[in-house]
Amino acid sequence: MHPHQTDHAFVSALGVQWLHRPVPDQPGLAALLAHEALDADQQAAVVQAVGASVAAECAAHGYHRMDLVVLHPATAGLQAALQRFDQPHTHADDEVRYILDGEGIFGFLDAQGQERVVTVRAGDYLRVPAGVEHRFTLTAARRIKALRLFTDTAGWAAHYTQRPVGALEMKE
Ligand code: LAC
Ligand code: NI
Repeated sequence: MHPHQTDHAFVSALGVQWLHRPVPDQPGLAALLAHEALDADQQAAVVQAVGASVAAECAAHGYHRMDLVVLHPATAGLQAALQRFDQPHTHADDEVRYILDGEGIFGFLDAQGQERVVTVRAGDYLRVPAGVEHRFTLTAARRIKALRLFTDTAGWAAHYTQRPVGALEMKE
């Protein structure tokens, strides 16, 4: 089996939805996404351009709020943020990430602590159900833009599982 298929099988068994859906071809969107950093207005423009393409997911799962996360090498506090993300954790809400630019690395853990590490890139849409253990980091490029969908407006909290793990990195 192609390695990607075994990745898909592993994450599907955890209930994670991992789809590829091309970034919408909206006027001006590619130019905005090409910027490393985006100000608040630019972020809102990206959300506006992409939001309609996830309307069905919002309706199906009750996602009422969305925003854009933008990380790049000059992001203030990037190192500290990555140190929070790269430890195994769960959330009380689904974690939905539609990658629009850059790339990231997710580790998904099953109940036995077996981990599958996958790289996500522009066009990857992930829905990690509430309670599924995972962790995240950036690739060496240290750059990502992702739309996040939420069921409520409460703060995004991570519950750390304290599972002992090695560094999160791609093996190939
Ligand atoms: C989060 C991801 C990065 O919790 O797991 O935002
Ligand atoms: Ni998370």
